Amino acid sequence: MTRIAQIIVAAGKGARLGSTTPKQYLKLAGKPLIAHTISAMKSCNRIDETIVVVDKDDKFILEIVNDYKNMRIVTGGKTRAESSMAGLLALSKNPPDIVLIHDAARPFVSKSVINDVLSNLKKNTAVAPALPIVDALKTIDGDKVNRKSLYRIQTPQGFNYKEIIEAYRNLESQTIPDDDIEVAKLSGLNICYSAGDPDNFKVTYPKDFEKAKNMVLSDYYIATGNGFDVHRLATGNQVYLCGVPIKCEFSLIGHSDADVALHSLTDAILGTIALGDIGDHFPPSDQKWKNAKSEKFLLFALNELNKLGGVLQHIDITIICEQPKIKPYKLIMREKLSQICNLPIKQISVKATTTEKLGFTGRSEGIAAQATVTVKLPS
Ligand code: CTP
Ligand code: MG
Repeated sequence: MTRIAQIIVAAGKGARLGSTTPKQYLKLAGKPLIAHTISAMKSCNRIDETIVVVDKDDKFILEIVNDYKNMRIVTGGKTRAESSMAGLLALSKNPPDIVLIHDAARPFVSKSVINDVLSNLKKNTAVAPALPIVDALKTIDGDKVNRKSLYRIQTPQGFNYKEIIEAYRNLESQTIPDDDIEVAKLSGLNICYSAGDPDNFKVTYPKDFEKAKNMVLSDYYIATGNGFDVHRLATGNQVYLCGVPIKCEFSLIGHSDADVALHSLTDAILGTIALGDIGDHFPPSDQKWKNAKSEKFLLFALNELNKLGGVLQHIDITIICEQPKIKPYKLIMREKLSQICNLPIKQISVKATTTEKLGFTGRSEGIAAQATVTVKLPS
């Protein structure tokens, strides 16, 4: 069986994108860009081993490593070529037959692009996906350039492992190649092109990142979830609502801190991913959750949503009570939710109403809360 390894080069600084976090770690729909790239590359199911090449000071990669099997991290260099070589060397103890080298900054690589590289490798030693140029090409003086002999080159580029590592060894130290197929060519290997794909663009400038964000989210569907909760009131001196302590003549009775607003929000989020309700995950019969902070329950639901690739879009909470008065706390509550949920405050609404002294909330026997959330989830 042909053994296939892949190297994902991710040691660049993303200078042209201009963000302090390197572009490969910026989040696209809640997941670092590079995680999309790794998943896309693994989707072809033919890769036996993955090497990710990162900067020596990289602090970000460790957050995602655990999500992937058969993945090793190695340190790259100052140029892309040095990073590719670091990846190739990491494979030298147990060399694969074939290696694919891919830019971390190309998250939309498709199965068919990868498979076309692999099938071309049956008869060739070096393959790169290429696209014809569609725009007219001119020199700076306005002279026509024949675009028929020009191609835009993408990754993953595929090679016979032994030949490409040898080609890198032959590379003169002052040469700084753009990519790996250039190294193959310089070393005299036969190269060939496979079918590129316009969606397989390299995130380079801020506009590319915006486009990537929209592309990821356009595949998502919108889900709404609602939650409702009630807790009994007793005399006391403080209640917690939306994670905010409010001094008053009451306390809320419950197994946890009885933050009825956070409980309804937690249930609403669980509702979007059909994951039961808060009681299923944190049963009141379990002493572990006695006096627990409700923020914990909310963070659990957010994490489950995140694991499914979901992105929280909007929160709308209504707190129903006569006492305490909620109005002075609405902004602080929104700020607190914004911080816990990592969601801009303009996407968070907190409202309050009384029931005109009617019913249990009207008699201040309890507080009720209901929440509606909107999320986007991968189709
Ligand atoms: N790369 C690398 N090591 C380097 C330089 C680049 O592994 N020393 C990787 C990048 O992380 C990226 C790919 O090579 O995934 C393509 O490079 P490019 O798009 O140029 O990324 P950056 O070098 O990060 O961006 P910029 O040139 O704008 O700084
Ligand atoms: Mg670069």
